[in-house]
Amino acid sequence: MNNAPWNRRHVISLADFTAAELETVMQTAVSFREVLSRRTKKVPALQGLVVTNLFFEPSTRTRSSFELAAKRLSADVLNFAPGTSSLTKGETILDTAKTYLAMGTNLMVIRHGESGVPDAIAAEMDRLQTGVGVLNAGDGLHEHPSQALLDLFTLCMALDPENPSIASLKGKKIAIVGDILHSRVARSNLWSLSAAGAEVHLAAPPTLLPPGFAEAFVALSPIDIPRPIVQHWALEPALADADFVMTLRLQKERMAQHLLPSLREYHQQFGVTCDRIAYCQPQVKVLHPGPVNRGVEISSELMDDPHRSLISDQVTNGVAVRMALLYLISVGHGTDGLEG
Ligand code: NCD
Repeated sequence: MNNAPWNRRHVISLADFTAAELETVMQTAVSFREVLSRRTKKVPALQGLVVTNLFFEPSTRTRSSFELAAKRLSADVLNFAPGTSSLTKGETILDTAKTYLAMGTNLMVIRHGESGVPDAIAAEMDRLQTGVGVLNAGDGLHEHPSQALLDLFTLCMALDPENPSIASLKGKKIAIVGDILHSRVARSNLWSLSAAGAEVHLAAPPTLLPPGFAEAFVALSPIDIPRPIVQHWALEPALADADFVMTLRLQKERMAQHLLPSLREYHQQFGVTCDRIAYCQPQVKVLHPGPVNRGVEISSELMDDPHRSLISDQVTNGVAVRMALLYLISVGHGTDGLEG
């Protein structure tokens, strides 16, 4: 699998990422993973640049991971928290972004509860010819590209630690189980796993995976999806012979919408446990983006099983993958870099 030259200033969605671009991110992350294994885990790649984390929604791992990634690249980091900001005084989101622009921000990492906010800020930054790069750190139900890329890297590392490449994912069966309808993580993963040639199977109750969901998703694709995405409304056929199982958080806020009878019943039907993964390939590994509801979408025993669970690897790999994204957007962006 060959790398592609990088020519994106923003990463908002993975919908139009080619396999070669995904490979570029993977190979750049391999280099940064090596940096993170050194005694001095820092390189001067982004020295003098300002990375601003604009998180309008709560986050533990994504915000900390982007902050550490930027610091490991020697950038200066600003963190914005809505509760203590001028947003409470009526400032608009765009004006908040422009305030950070006026302070010399070069890269903005944006999370927002509404779909489309990172895209709107990126469009404004381009209109003003600022040269600022925007990374979507999760917007509404839309996408969470850095999570899907760290998931992809974790899968590649699990399959071939010496030579991680998306080529190893071709034909592998990956089951995604849980609240797919409300998951931006699932949407970004559908794009990247399909582009990598994996066989994706989805499993959830019909209220969280409506009939026709996958077909409608594929119809949106700007590039050819080589394999169909298969939907199941039961766990067993999705898990049968799977190489990997991605579990998703059951968003308890959905219970209020009466989309599920009870958490207990959900766990009985769709909870991924040590017993149930016996349907999968013997070497199966389990992932979860966090935060986890222990004993709901995944059993505690499986989550903590060091031979089966890749959950800690996902968190560790997140820093290297986010370093790769920050680096590619700022330094690897053609010849015009951030000067725009
Ligand atoms: C996810 C998110 O916020 O979209 N978590 C994460 O970023 N690690 C998934 C979730 O909230 O369930």
